[in-house]
Amino acid sequence: MPSHSTDQPIPASGRRLCGSRFFIHTFGCQMNKNDSEHMAGLLLGAGAEEVPSAEDSDIILINTCAVRSKSVNKVYSLLGRLKRIKQASQGVQIAVTGCVAQLHRDEIQQRYPYVDLIVGPDNYPALPEMLGKSRLRPQTATAWHSGWQEIRTGYRAKGISGFVTIMEGCNNFCSYCVVPFTRGREKFRPASQILEETQELAAKGYREVQLLGQNVNVYRDPDQGSGFPALLRELGRVRGIAWIRFITSHPRDFSHELARAMKEVPQVCHQLHLPIQAGSDDVLRAMNRGYTRSEYLERIDMLRSLMPDIALSTDIIVGFPGESGQDFEDTLRVLAEVRFANIFSFHYSPRPRTASARTLPDSVPREEKKRRLMLVQSLQKQIQLEMHRALKGRSLEVLCMGPSKKDGSVYTGRNAANQVVNFSAPRDPTGTFVRVEITGYGPYSLKGKLDP
Ligand code: 5AD
Ligand code: SF4
Repeated sequence: MPSHSTDQPIPASGRRLCGSRFFIHTFGCQMNKNDSEHMAGLLLGAGAEEVPSAEDSDIILINTCAVRSKSVNKVYSLLGRLKRIKQASQGVQIAVTGCVAQLHRDEIQQRYPYVDLIVGPDNYPALPEMLGKSRLRPQTATAWHSGWQEIRTGYRAKGISGFVTIMEGCNNFCSYCVVPFTRGREKFRPASQILEETQELAAKGYREVQLLGQNVNVYRDPDQGSGFPALLRELGRVRGIAWIRFITSHPRDFSHELARAMKEVPQVCHQLHLPIQAGSDDVLRAMNRGYTRSEYLERIDMLRSLMPDIALSTDIIVGFPGESGQDFEDTLRVLAEVRFANIFSFHYSPRPRTASARTLPDSVPREEKKRRLMLVQSLQKQIQLEMHRALKGRSLEVLCMGPSKKDGSVYTGRNAANQVVNFSAPRDPTGTFVRVEITGYGPYSLKGKLDP
């Protein structure tokens, strides 16, 4: 978590958290990371100061993820450990935000009565005021709002690549997915706000933006009614932003018009995350995904005929209820056929309130899920090694993100395809675009040296 700049003046009226020190622990997806940055901005705006560890703070904010049971368990075990801190100092406030707060409010209240504040994703603007109130009595805020909740604080760390949320929530109700119950229905941010935030990032020196939303393809500007391709074209005019990416796309909603915008707006990277989830039509139907395997593959053909260099990534769930050995083979076949640059793979985890958890027995045994996950990952590892080998000797454009965490003399960055490139350089190229000659590779990253 970066520390945030405090170069803006704080209005005296907003100093209700003056003197407080806060620490944010973030679990989960990019949207959570971005939300945490905005919440940090809200707290800084109220006069609080960000500190690097929970022990030094008097406000501990835990921004949580509920997408799989493992992520929820991590939150609960952290809350258990925080009891000690709370017992040692009653003055410490503990706030739980994010998807677990929204979904499991009552359980948190019962099991962890020392939690002072529980705030769902739709209520972040109220956070500073509620932190003030929760000094007297525990507070919760999990009500839904029908419109977009804008959080603009002006506090944003300097950086190279920045997230910009364009929509939130989901109307799809894939049968396994808890997101519609934690983030609510689709809400679209006005394009004017998206443009302004992107311009602010550019003015701070950011070179890349990543547009965020559960399903960005269905974006519609609430003011003008224009769609996602028009938004990309507009953002392509922001000076200083050289690369634009977006997550996540839904295969059913990915249009030819959007693919054309990707091709025609030079800043949009030829890289796309398009979750397929499974390769079998029966499983896709039971997941309520709204496309078949061949429809998915047609989209890929369309994308590759327009942009032969496009790098694709995907999400895979193994062990969905009823997934037979044959169904699973279909997933492996899709991986072999498409040859994704990267995948994120998970074993099925039944989630509260979802259709699959309510109506389908979790029929694939744990050990079998593990075995399938291993097969998926080892096939993908092989594919990535082969794809990386083909890049050896090539010179790639890379946006340098900074020194590598493991070795300060090595720099790390990403290319347009979103592959991680670690490289040696005689000077520090952080924040700039450089050409890197690829000299080696592993399954998950490329190695190289700065091209003189
Ligand atoms: N079990 C396993 N994986 C899940 N995902 C979402 N819900 C579940 C679940 N219940 C995965 C999907 C999604 C990614 C963000 O998380 O692959 O695309
Ligand atoms: Fe969940 Fe499906 Fe919506 Fe993605 S599209 S957030 S998987 S319900």
